[in-house]
Formats: sequence, structure tokens, C-alpha cells
Amino acid sequence: MNGPLDVVVMAAGKGTRMKSRIPKVLQRLAQRPLIHHVLDQAASLKARRVVVVTGHGAPEVEAACAGRTSAAGTFDLKFALQQPQLGTGHAVQQALPHLAGDGTVVVLSGDVPLTRPETLAALVEASGGGRLALLTVRLPDPAGYGRIVRGAQGQVERIVEHKDAGEAERAIDEIYSGIMAVPSALLARWLARLTNDNAQGEYYLTDVVALAVADGVPVVAHCIDDALQVAGVNSPAQLAQLERAHQLRQARALMEQGVRLADPARFDLRDDPKTGARGELVCAQDVEIDVGCIFTGRVEIGEGARIGAYCCVANARIGAAAVLHPYTHVDGEQAGVRVGEGALVGPFARLRPGATLGREVHVGNFVEVKNSQLADGAKANHLAYLGDATVGERVNYGAGSITANYDGANKHRTVIEADAHIGSNCVLVAPVTIGAGTTVAGGSTITEDTPPGSLSLGRGRQVNIAGWHRPARKPKA
Ligand code: UD1
Ligand code: CA
Repeated sequence: MNGPLDVVVMAAGKGTRMKSRIPKVLQRLAQRPLIHHVLDQAASLKARRVVVVTGHGAPEVEAACAGRTSAAGTFDLKFALQQPQLGTGHAVQQALPHLAGDGTVVVLSGDVPLTRPETLAALVEASGGGRLALLTVRLPDPAGYGRIVRGAQGQVERIVEHKDAGEAERAIDEIYSGIMAVPSALLARWLARLTNDNAQGEYYLTDVVALAVADGVPVVAHCIDDALQVAGVNSPAQLAQLERAHQLRQARALMEQGVRLADPARFDLRDDPKTGARGELVCAQDVEIDVGCIFTGRVEIGEGARIGAYCCVANARIGAAAVLHPYTHVDGEQAGVRVGEGALVGPFARLRPGATLGREVHVGNFVEVKNSQLADGAKANHLAYLGDATVGERVNYGAGSITANYDGANKHRTVIEADAHIGSNCVLVAPVTIGAGTTVAGGSTITEDTPPGSLSLGRGRQVNIAGWHRPARKPKA
């Protein structure tokens, strides 16, 4: 009935109240630019074409839209420059040359990120190929918004903008959300008839309602009760408010699946701007997540695993029954991090890209692991660095020990074979191989391979000087 669907995203406004150099629609919600949230909505509608109306920061906005990762390629993307910005009606007029004139047009705002796909689908349905459908909501405080003016029979007659409204109209609590679905051919006809004869001297898109009524085209208001879905971002405070609301939505969805969040109000799941990965948390059964954790990019957590308070976990797979103790920092970036079943990590541990921990591995406080494989049962419990290392099963890696993996120009690997025991405060100068079962004495600097089963020492021999007197202070004159 609706025919093909095109979407116009109004994104030319400046967003003065953000007090930012970044165009408003590029401000981030869950580390995702607002306009990407909106483009996802267009994708959910299976739009044929999306026309983004740009103005302030047009080059940046275009670049951000073209470079976005999710849902890319699902629709044909066009840009229309609106310069100067003469109102929302004028904005959609600029998009008109990119619209084929058939089917249905859905108008969205680039700064309204949380509209649900099913809401938009219902709006398109209400438009039905022949009607003008408005998304509306009742607000306890409707100040500032366009009001839905209804006739004696309750039929929608027009929208009056707040600044043009009289006292009685200002008392109306049903407001226009800024989102409509309209047959393309009718939209084109009405846009041509807009004037700017109003309090703001702007071409109001909302004036199409009265034009529809005059033309005898039915106008339907699809009224929802969830104000969040139509909330726009105008200020940092509003952005933060929507961020919390969005995070609460995500938290509730996880709890629905059985994930145990200690506090859904202190949970964050975000996109990763560094890798472009979409925020996605996949949890098996009986996962427990304590307060204040931040998940970034794609994170998988196995059955019965526990994430302690204030962990930051990005681009990682955490095995079943593993425990991340509080304040652990995990970021797999592109290479990923894998934590094996039953491993214990932290508190205050740092797992960097390419850290791969086997089963029952222990990585304790102030231990950093990068691009290294720790086989099953290996332990590095305190204050250590493992970079570019291959660590065998059951290796014990002492406190304060490090792999010297970087010679100032190139990185080299350290291989520590199974059951080796590295004492405290050792420096393993790569490339080097520690043989299976070898013991490296504490304080050693190891520059040569060690044979299996040996004891290796690489340090100055202790000297004791008898009867040594410490220098004494001179008496004051
Ligand atoms: C508009 C509606 C109002 C509705 C409100 C919901 C009109 C005339 N009024 O108000 O009924 O209650 O949205 O939030 O449409 N934009 C452009 N070019 C312009 C002007 C605006 O691209 O020339 C964009 C803005 O960047 C923004 C969106 O359109 O994304 C809405 O503009 P905004 O000024 O926030 O809306 P209002 O005119 O206040
Ligand atoms: Ca305005």
C-alpha cells in the first residue's frame, strides 16, 4: 500500500546549546553518533533511499554518514545541502530533488536517536499510502513544541508552533514529535505551497497538516506514551539523560535474558569508535556483572562468569566460570582478547590486544599482558609484564618480572616452555627461550636461551663487606 519508502533526515541545525565545535548530530550516544542511530532507524524501515539534509558542519556530517559501519549499504544515501536554514519545511524542500515522487516519505530528525523501529513501522502503516501520519506524544510540559490542534470530532486540523500559539493552544498537551510519514507526491505538492508568514519567519514543515486538511487528505495522529522515543538532544544535560535512558534499555534487555546486573543504572554498553565495532554484549547463562562496568564493542561472556565492579571490557571473549576481579581493564581492539574457562584476572589487571589466556590461568594485580598466549594453568600473579610472549602450561611468572620485548626498533618474542618457574624481578630479553621446567633465579637478566630443567642465574654475585660504616653526619659548627 505504501510503495517504496524513502527517508529524509533533517540534520542542518547548529545545536547552539551544545556549546560544542562538533555538529550536533555527530555528538555521541553510547559512543555512536546521533545520526547513526537515526540511520539505523531508516535501515530498520528497509528504506530505499535516505536523504540527509545538511547545513552546519556539512562536510563532517557527510563524512560521518558515508563512513559509518553498521547497516551500510542497505539503502542509497544522498545529501542535500540546506544553506541558509530557513526552517524544517525548507529543509525537506532541499531533499525533494532526490526523492522519486512515488511511495512514502518518512521525515526524521538527526538528533532524535531513540525512536523504536516498531513505532516507525506503525507510523508508516498509519500513513497507508494515502494519509498524512504524524507521530505525537502527550507531555506534562509541552512548552516549546508544536501542538496538535484537533476539531470538534477529535480530527487533527493543524499544528501550531509554540511561538505562534495562543493561550488556549498552549494548553494542549499533545505535541508533534517532528516525525511524520507522508505519501511522496502529496508532500511535494504541499511543500510548494509553504509560506514563512509566522512568528519565526520560517518555512514550517508542520504547515503541511493544514494543507492536507484543506485538500481533503486524511491526517492521522499516531500517539505514543513513551516520550523517550521522540526526545531530541539540544544540550549536554539532555544528551546525558538520553544516554542513561538508552543504557537502562540495554540493561533491561540483558536482564530479560537472565543476566544478573547488580545495578542496571550503573551499566554501560557502547560502540567502539576505535575499531568501529558495534556495542554488543552476548552472555551465556548465569553471568553476573557488578556495578560500574563498561563494555565496548563486541564482548562475549561464558556461562557462570563473573565480572567484578568497575571493569572496562572491550572486544573480548570471557570464558565460562572465569572471574574478572574489580578494576580490570581489558581491551582487545582489533586483535581481541580471550580469557579461558575458569581463569582469574585482576583486580587491577590489564589485558591488551592479542592476550590469550588458557583455562585456569591466573593474572593478578598490576599485571599487563599484550599479544601473548598463556597456556592452561599459567600464573602471573603480581606486578608483571608479558608482551609478545608464548607461555607454556603451568608456568609460574614471578612478581616484578618483565619481557624486554622491544629493542628500540623491533619487537621480539619470548618463549617460556611448560612448567618453567620465573623468579621475581627477572628481565627476559627477547628473543629468548626459557626451556621446559627451567627455574630462573630471582633478579636475573636472561639474554640467552636456557636448557630445559636447568637453574639459570643471570645477576651479579652477592658480596658482603664486613665492618662497613655508613658515612656519619658532620657536627654542626
Ligand atoms: C519542530 C517542529 C515542532 C515539533 C518539534 C519536535 C517545525 C516547524 N516544528 O520544532 O512542531 O514539536 O520539531 O522536536 O517543524 N532543521 C533543519 N533545517 C532547518 C531547521 C531545522 O535541518 O532549517 C533540523 C534541525 O537540525 C533538527 C530538526 O530539523 O534536527 C528540528 O528542528 P528544531 O529547530 O529542533 O525543531 P523546531 O523547529 O523547534
Ligand atoms: Ca526551529
